[in-house]
Amino acid sequence: MVVDRRAREAIRSGALSVFAPAVRRIRGRFRPGDVVRVETGSGELLGHAFAQASDRDIRSGRSPGIVARIFDPRGEYPDRSPDEIVLERIRERYRERKRWRVDRHRNHMRVVFSEADALPGLIIDKFNDLAVFQTTCPAMERIVLRHAEELLEILDVETLYEKNDSRKRRQLGMEVRKRTVAGEDRSSTIVEEYGVRFHVDVERGQKTGFYIDQVENRGEVQRLVREGDRVLDVFSYVGGFAIHAAVGGAEEVVGIEKFDRIVEAAYENATLNEVRDRVKFLIGDAFALLERLERRGERFDVVILDPPAFVTSREHLERGKRAYFDVNYKALGLVRDGGLFVTCSCSHFLEPDDFVRIVSEAARRRGLRLRMLGPLRGQPPCHPIVPGNPDTQYLKAMFCTVERT
Ligand SMILES: C[S@@+](CC[C@H](N)C(=O)[O-])C[C@H]1O[C@@H](n2cnc3c(N)ncnc32)[C@H](O)[C@@H]1O
Repeated sequence: MVVDRRAREAIRSGALSVFAPAVRRIRGRFRPGDVVRVETGSGELLGHAFAQASDRDIRSGRSPGIVARIFDPRGEYPDRSPDEIVLERIRERYRERKRWRVDRHRNHMRVVFSEADALPGLIIDKFNDLAVFQTTCPAMERIVLRHAEELLEILDVETLYEKNDSRKRRQLGMEVRKRTVAGEDRSSTIVEEYGVRFHVDVERGQKTGFYIDQVENRGEVQRLVREGDRVLDVFSYVGGFAIHAAVGGAEEVVGIEKFDRIVEAAYENATLNEVRDRVKFLIGDAFALLERLERRGERFDVVILDPPAFVTSREHLERGKRAYFDVNYKALGLVRDGGLFVTCSCSHFLEPDDFVRIVSEAARRRGLRLRMLGPLRGQPPCHPIVPGNPDTQYLKAMFCTVERT
């Protein structure tokens, strides 16, 4: 597969996905999952990849998205099999995370973060004694399933769970599956981070079951909350920030979450941490509930906003930006003068500078002055960022004090 100059430069800077428009020429026949050679116009090897589509579908334009995923940028294939390369890399990634002590204050971590770990299309999260994987790459899927028993040992877990139910898989025509593939048959466990415990239900929970990516920011909230504070956690999921705030000493914590089943899990987490009497969750749409709280004249010492990604593609950038402005504007009205505002965005397509600008503009329109307590924060080290591959960086979190001007 010969790719154009732009793709060549992107791959040299760490990108590992080949998109259909970048393909200049294809030689030979292949099916999804086969190993293909990705090269420049002059025949220089850029890496070996798993085909994501057949040669026919690429030629006919029936496969418009990612058509190949490079798993071997170093050219170790064919001396080493794809299985050996992938398995050894997973082993390395786990070892490396232990080496950098990402689990110092917690017993969960993302072990494999797709392209950022040179395992494109594969996610593996380890929750205490249970690991869960997700993939949109047929070849990766086959390798993980072939070596499921071995992975129990590599990842030091009792269960390996397959959570392959993404919309992307459906679009790609891949089977949707949720099941234990090795070890003890179960789908939940308990994790601990900065002394706070959470039930993780990988089968029913969102994504792989728990948002590991906010772990450091949740720990920071626990550290910054003071005895007696009143805290609001908007888009609270199973109570992540809310329960950290309560454990940190908050007198009253209010969470807002759209789904009642999730709120049940959040209450269970509050009970697990013995803070049930100080935490309550409102079920419903955050935008409407924020307005209602403001009408009632409610004020909080700390307000946390961690919405779902409002920008899901480049085409929706402007609409997503408006949603960020709107929700930040609404939430800022509830922060007490001198209070703390923590606001996040997990949208890949929203640039960090644009996010800061949107939040600043929302504050300005409210007649508020923000001061950031340090630089923009982001994802933890188990979600590494490859400089030169913007797709690997997505999480942004501003911690700021709020003052009336
Ligand atoms: C990124 S997650 C929050 C993760 C959480 N802060 C944590 O640390 O685990 C976003 C949450 O917002 C919820 N949500 C999405 N749209 C919502 C809405 N309009 N109103 C309230 N909650 C919403 C989702 O169900 C999800 O639980």
